[in-house]
Amino acid sequence: MKDYEKLSREHFNGQAAVYDERNTVYYSREGKISCNDIASLLRSVFFEKLLDVGCGTGYLIDLLAREKQCGFYGLDLSEKMIEAAKNKKIPGAVFVVGTADHLPYGSESFDVVTCSQSFHHYPYQEKAMREAFRVLKRGGLYVLSDTGIGGVGAMIDNHILFKLTRSGDCRTQNRRSIAKMMKKTGFEVVDCRQVRGFIYTVVGKKP
Ligand SMILES: C[S@@+](CC[C@H](N)C(=O)[O-])C[C@H]1O[C@@H](n2cnc3c(N)ncnc32)[C@H](O)[C@@H]1O
Repeated sequence: MKDYEKLSREHFNGQAAVYDERNTVYYSREGKISCNDIASLLRSVFFEKLLDVGCGTGYLIDLLAREKQCGFYGLDLSEKMIEAAKNKKIPGAVFVVGTADHLPYGSESFDVVTCSQSFHHYPYQEKAMREAFRVLKRGGLYVLSDTGIGGVGAMIDNHILFKLTRSGDCRTQNRRSIAKMMKKTGFEVVDCRQVRGFIYTVVGKKP
């Protein structure tokens, strides 16, 4: 298997400097739509500690930190994206380089885990979702927003053609398959909707 994570890291390291300013399909347009949807969903939710997996330049955490005072944690594979996030100097935010399928946090640490336009890049999606489940507290929310063309999106984006497997890893997802994967992981699905075009958001609650 190719080193998908290395390809992703190289790709996003190259995008980091212009990611926020550009507003096109290959850059941050979808991300902004997903982040705004996640922020509006979380507006009425009380939480003290949130982790954004695949946080990129910290766009979502920046949005949320304007409205809420709490512990914000962002993790991303690309050190350049993390550098851009750190440069925003968002109060209360801690950004680290890491991978979605090996989260460097203890179990039951977060009230909310978010993932915006990042899941379709993961070679080990089920493992990444299990990690989100593990680090969430009981009653915590996993808010995943992505584009339904999934694996095809990753191919267009960073020239990675994921191998389709029956196990569910490395495959194209849509809101229904994400909801199914969430249930299999142990989440109760509390919201599952199409946001705009191919963009969807699914919310899972850890019982
Ligand atoms: C399209 S950007 C989205 C960034 C941000 N969440 C947003 O919505 O604007 C995808 C991000 O996922 C990150 N990423 C890709 N694969 C990853 C992995 N396996 N673990 C953690 N982050 C990953 C990339 O480095 C990139 O910053």
